[in-house]
Amino acid sequence: MRLLENKTIIVTGAGGNIGRSYCRGFLDMGANVVAADLNDISTEAQSWGCDDRVLVVEADVLDQEDCNRMADLAVEKFERVDGLLNNAGFFKSASFGSFMDITASEWDVCYQVNVRGTWQCIKAVYPHMKRQRQGSIVNVSSNTPYKGVPNFLHYVSSKAAIIGLSRSLAREVGPDGILVNTLCPDLIPDDDIIARQGKAADERTVEGRCLKRTQLPEDMVGAAAFLFSDLAGFVTGQSLLVNGGAHFN
Ligand SMILES: NC(=O)c1ccc[n+]([C@@H]2O[C@H](COP(=O)([O-])OP(=O)(O)OC[C@H]3O[C@@H](n4cnc5c(N)ncnc54)[C@H](O)[C@@H]3O)[C@@H](O)[C@H]2O)c1
Repeated sequence: MRLLENKTIIVTGAGGNIGRSYCRGFLDMGANVVAADLNDISTEAQSWGCDDRVLVVEADVLDQEDCNRMADLAVEKFERVDGLLNNAGFFKSASFGSFMDITASEWDVCYQVNVRGTWQCIKAVYPHMKRQRQGSIVNVSSNTPYKGVPNFLHYVSSKAAIIGLSRSLAREVGPDGILVNTLCPDLIPDDDIIARQGKAADERTVEGRCLKRTQLPEDMVGAAAFLFSDLAGFVTGQSLLVNGGAHFN
């Protein structure tokens, strides 16, 4: 039996660089995947194969009705929702610079997508998971709060908020049989990130790791799958840093 056989997992930000890898990986492990994104990612999803185990949903995590529809459609098609991976994020368009220069509007958008969006998706799946008395919520934070990355204050603090949100929520929903954990990737560069930050940013990051290589989207998949699997049934409130040993929790 494959690790995620018979599990239905919602992935937000499913069309993004790392989101696509989660979806492909979970499908390989036997899961049903609800691939949610702001944009229509049907064409991308067709390239994953497994059409009968993929449901594409266009949903803005800032819109509670969209989030509710996403969860309801998941249950309608697959009869249950076992996992939610809150991966959608405001990251690549976040500007770098002194904390003095961040605009209030960019600060707000960053917190809205990264923190409020996460909370709203959780609110959408919670009634279903509560009814099932089972579920696993994984919220994507980042290595940056552990490192204390400067000149990126809105993003880093929004991802630090995810750690607190996950820990507190783990206590609230634990009695319902629901697990809540945080997954923290380090820098996973794609063409957009290299265009903005240059290759030097990745080279510096690699230098600081125990494992001396660039992190790939695929590096996140095993850790995420573990948190959704029955193997992690007694793991909650934890942060899992997947960073090649850049920092220790
Ligand atoms: N790439 C990295 O180096 C890195 C490092 C640490 C953490 N992360 C986190 O991992 C996650 C994925 O990062 P990525 O590199 O794949 O980014 P990405 O920009 O490639 O993907 C983000 C996805 O989120 C979607 N999205 C954005 N706003 C949305 C909204 N309002 N509603 C629904 N979907 C929305 C986008 O359409 C996109 O598909 C993010 O939460 C990011 O903060 C990334």
